[in-house]
Amino acid sequence: MAEKELLSLIDTARIPEHVAIIMDGNGRWAKKQGYLRIFGHKQGVNTVRNVVETAAQLGVKYLTLYAFSTENWNRPKIEVNALMELLVESIRKETPRLMENGIKLETIGNMESLPSGCNKTLQETVETTKNNQKMTLILALSYSGRWDIIEAVRKIAASVKAGELEPEAIDEKVLNAALNTARYPNPDLLIRTSGEQRISNFLLWEIAYSEIHFTPVLWPEFTSVDFYRAIIDYQSRERRFGKTSEQFLNPA
Ligand code: IPE
Ligand code: IPE
Ligand code: MG
Repeated sequence: MAEKELLSLIDTARIPEHVAIIMDGNGRWAKKQGYLRIFGHKQGVNTVRNVVETAAQLGVKYLTLYAFSTENWNRPKIEVNALMELLVESIRKETPRLMENGIKLETIGNMESLPSGCNKTLQETVETTKNNQKMTLILALSYSGRWDIIEAVRKIAASVKAGELEPEAIDEKVLNAALNTARYPNPDLLIRTSGEQRISNFLLWEIAYSEIHFTPVLWPEFTSVDFYRAIIDYQSRERRFGKTSEQFLNPA
């Protein structure tokens, strides 16, 4: 189906407020064309630019991209270094475009574990874009869901120890507020590219009721059309949140 036709199938009144994406398949894409893995990551940056702008145009308010996981530190050093350099270079280059498109950049993850230059560039762009209103782009860097939950539990335990919080008062709201993702609504839609059907330690707590869309498309080949397809798939789902279909259709 042509891009325009697909776009006409999207209900603009039901755009997911928060979309999260596990951007996977850069290495396989590069290998397929006989290139080094890093070439796939470079190509992946072009996809990021396009998806960010497509999401903003559709009216998505929050877009979280899994760019580097806690476990990705275990990759060969040469790939890790190349990824960090690519990150700094891309953020620098893309900042004017983020400004033009009204996009605010934020990050989740263990920023202190990133090379200091990397962290600095990121913080600069976070600062430059902080008043942008159209969409918030959240980059998950040196992030994993378990890492964030452990950090949150540590913070909560410290409050209990300091006598500021009763153990009985710990509820979903308290845990939520202690996470890196505290300021964002939970993702409505989670997309994973490259055909893998796993979460790989992404937003474990936050995706409790997210709709999940898996696509075999490798990240460097993921287009606006693939993004539209994911939204259409999302809009075809009935989000029941534990209730019955009848309750959902005729709310009391
Ligand atoms: C995703 O692509 C990007 C990162 C994890 C940084 P991969 O590098 O995982 O690509 P594949 O899965 O090996 O094809
Ligand atoms: C998940 O992809 C992490 C990111 C996209 C940043 P991986 O390629 O690291 O995941 P696994 O190893 O296939 O589970
Ligand atoms: Mg992968």
